[in-house]
Amino acid sequence: MTAPPRRTSGSTAMDDYLEQILHLIESKGYARAVDISRNLSISQASVTNMLRRLDAEGLVKHEKYRGTVLTEDGHRIARAIIDRHETLTRFLRLFGIDEETIYRDVEGMEHHVSRPTLDVIRAVADELEANPALLEKIRNKP
Ligand code: FE2
Repeated sequence: MTAPPRRTSGSTAMDDYLEQILHLIESKGYARAVDISRNLSISQASVTNMLRRLDAEGLVKHEKYRGTVLTEDGHRIARAIIDRHETLTRFLRLFGIDEETIYRDVEGMEHHVSRPTLDVIRAVADELEANPALLEKIRNKP
């Protein structure tokens, strides 16, 4: 048996921060601790601690006027998480599952799904989108 492919990042908590930081930078242009704290429902003290840890890991750095920014490694990991989030969401939406369930499931799955599995899910989503008859058949199953 071969070893599974290595994860791209350290922990689910770190993943969630990196994902959130990139979302904030892309939507507002900067990521402030107060916004991270609100979006993740985590105390500002914990956010500050985690930002320090991410800094020590070389994933974020603090810039005087821009606040928290992602390093190249941090950006790559955040992108990969958002990519997993989007692909899994796109896949589950095909089946008419309610948005809240999809969000909850995706937030768990995005931390664990491997690259090969994600590639398969993306390929299946492509095929199902191109084959509405098959999709209809699956949607009417349960
Ligand atoms: Fe996510």
